[in-house]
Amino acid sequence: MQDLQSILDGAVSALSSIDNPALLEEVKARYLGKSGLLTERLKALGKLSPEARPAAGAEINRVKLAVEAALQARRDHIAAQQLERQLSAQALDVTLPGRGAGNGGLHPVTRTLARIREVFHSLGFDVADGPEIETDAYNFTALNIPENHPARAMHDTFYLDATHVLRTHTSPMQVRYLESRKPPVKVIVPGRVYRCDSDMTHTPMFHQVEGLWVDEAVTFSGLKGVLIDFMRRFFEQDQLKARFRPSFFPFTEPSAEMDIGCVICEGQGCRVCSHTGWLEVLGCGMVHPNVFAPLGIDSERHVGFAFGMGVERLAMLRYGVNDLRLFFDNDLRFLEQFR
Ligand code: FA5
Ligand code: MG
Repeated sequence: MQDLQSILDGAVSALSSIDNPALLEEVKARYLGKSGLLTERLKALGKLSPEARPAAGAEINRVKLAVEAALQARRDHIAAQQLERQLSAQALDVTLPGRGAGNGGLHPVTRTLARIREVFHSLGFDVADGPEIETDAYNFTALNIPENHPARAMHDTFYLDATHVLRTHTSPMQVRYLESRKPPVKVIVPGRVYRCDSDMTHTPMFHQVEGLWVDEAVTFSGLKGVLIDFMRRFFEQDQLKARFRPSFFPFTEPSAEMDIGCVICEGQGCRVCSHTGWLEVLGCGMVHPNVFAPLGIDSERHVGFAFGMGVERLAMLRYGVNDLRLFFDNDLRFLEQFR
């Protein structure tokens, strides 16, 4: 009995310092294996007298169960330790500040275009889309600008070949749209246009939104009304300063340009508005009969007005940006201000 207790003590103390599963198996073999200490004791039971056997057998079993329990306890302890180590190696400190997902944002020109669409949608205009590569027939001739006409020089045109250009304005869509539709039409056409031009208020690529309303009772005062209404809604200013100056476009008669008060200097005069206090935002007028005639539209019956606005100019005024080229430099310090 004394002997068995010291076997148990030995097993428990051997296990107490073990911290890997392989050594644990060695200890198990030493006590419970085929020729382990306790196994040998069980085999030796036969040599005892029949009277002594039950008590000795019971005692060996008690020690055997105790050793098994100690093995299991140590096994659990090692597994728990391992899990603990693994968890602390993979630990996340949820109290650390985030790295910042760096949310993107819409480009100010995209936002301005969306806003223009929204306002015209509320005024009942449809939206159409047209090609950026145009024939000079649509870009000029169909708009009453014949070949060798000095008005072609008003646009610094990028020619692709003898007959194709990067459209210099969205106005060719007036013609394309009316080719496939009968009046009444009421539409805007947003899109990119190109001119060989670059300074504080001009870039070689910019956006225009063309507008066209053709019906039987469209008037020049209606044109002014729509545009002033648009600008006031766009800028959310009921008292926005606006003026119409007589102008010339071969495809409208009469023609005008619309200026709005310079928001950079509030009319005081600055570099952006060339010290006039005003900034030109669009050209407009009543569609010229020479544009309607080839389309089979009778100018005695149908009248129309058209306008073409500069999107970057509007974005510039709305956001108080003093150099139009900033919109295309893609400088994050600039763009992040519009998130
Ligand atoms: C035109 O392009 C005419 N198609 C507008 C029009 C349409 C008149 C329908 C009558 C009827 P203009 O060249 O003035 O006109 O340009 C229109 C607007 O585009 C200008 O008022 C200005 O706001 C903008 N714009 C012109 N050139 C540039 C440029 N290089 N960079 C940025 N915006 C420009
Ligand atoms: Mg102009």
